[in-house]
Amino acid sequence: MYVCNCNALTEKQIREAIAKRPRDADAVYRYYDCQPQCGRCVCEVREMLKQAREAKAAA
Ligand code: FES
Repeated sequence: MYVCNCNALTEKQIREAIAKRPRDADAVYRYYDCQPQCGRCVCEVREMLKQAREAKAAA
């Protein structure tokens, strides 16, 4: 499933980027040498980052 249609980034790709560069949403896009275009996906990427941080903190 695509999270970012503009850059053709799937949920799996976003999760991989978060695992490697969990700093912020910009780092996720830079991981794939792209940047937000329309910006619709940014909230979802931020939410995925938040969930990853919470999961890591709970571990
Ligand atoms: S859907 Fe990601 S920038 Fe447009």
